[in-house]
Amino acid sequence: MSHKGRAAGPIIALVVAMGENRAIGRGGKLPWRLSSDMRYFREITMGKPIIMGRRTFKSLPRVLDGRLNIVLTRHLGFVAPDAVMAHSLEEGLEAAQRSAERTGAEEIMIIGGEDVFREVLPQARRIYLTEVHASPDADTWFPTLDPNQWREISREAHPPGPKDDHAFSFVVLDRAQT
Ligand SMILES: NC(=O)c1ccc[n+]([C@@H]2O[C@H](COP(=O)([O-])OP(=O)(O)OC[C@H]3O[C@@H](n4cnc5c(N)ncnc54)[C@H](OP(=O)(O)O)[C@@H]3O)[C@@H](O)[C@H]2O)c1
Repeated sequence: MSHKGRAAGPIIALVVAMGENRAIGRGGKLPWRLSSDMRYFREITMGKPIIMGRRTFKSLPRVLDGRLNIVLTRHLGFVAPDAVMAHSLEEGLEAAQRSAERTGAEEIMIIGGEDVFREVLPQARRIYLTEVHASPDADTWFPTLDPNQWREISREAHPPGPKDDHAFSFVVLDRAQT
C-alpha cells in the first residue's frame, strides 16, 4: 500500500506529542518545552488543513500560518479571525476535505486535544506520534491504542537539543489493513 491517500482522497492523520505516561497537556498548555518537536510539527502540517478543539486553539499564540485552521466548538457565538469555526466533527472534516481538494493536500491533520483525539481516532489512518521520554504531571491524556490496529512504519530517536526539556522519538503509525 502506498503511504499516500491520494487516490481515495486525503487521509485523516493525528499529530500528537505524548509522554511515556500518555500525558499530553496540563493547565491548558503542553507539559514540556520541546522546540525540536515544534519545528517537526510545523514541517509535517504545513500546507495541510488542521483541525483542533477550541481549548487547543486558545492555547496557541496565534492562528498557525500556511495552514487552514479549523476550530471545533459547540458555541455558535465563538468566532476567531482567520480561522474556520466548525460546530461538529463532521462539519470540521467537510471543511478540511473541501480545502484539501482545492490544494491537493494528502492529509487532514488532527492536532488535538484529548477530546478531539478520542472522537476522531476511529476514523484516523495515520498517527504522527512524538514519544516524549518523560512522565510529567498532566490533566489531559492520549487514548490507549489497540496494538492490533496500528503498525509502526518509522521511528527516529533524538537526544534533547538545546531548547528541549527531554529526549524524544518521532514515530509514525499506520492503521493495519484488515
Ligand atoms: N501534546 C499534544 O500533542 C497536544 C496537542 C493538542 C493539545 N494539547 C493539550 O491538550 C489540552 C487541551 O485538550 P482538551 O481535551 O482539554 O481540549 P480540546 O480537545 O482542545 O478542546 C475541547 C473543546 O473542543 C470543542 N469540541 C470538541 N469536540 C467537538 C465536537 N465534536 N463538536 C464541536 N466542538 C467540539 C469543545 O469546545 P466548546 O467548549 O467551545 O464547545 C470542547 O470543549 C491543552 O493542555 C493542550 O495544550 C496537547
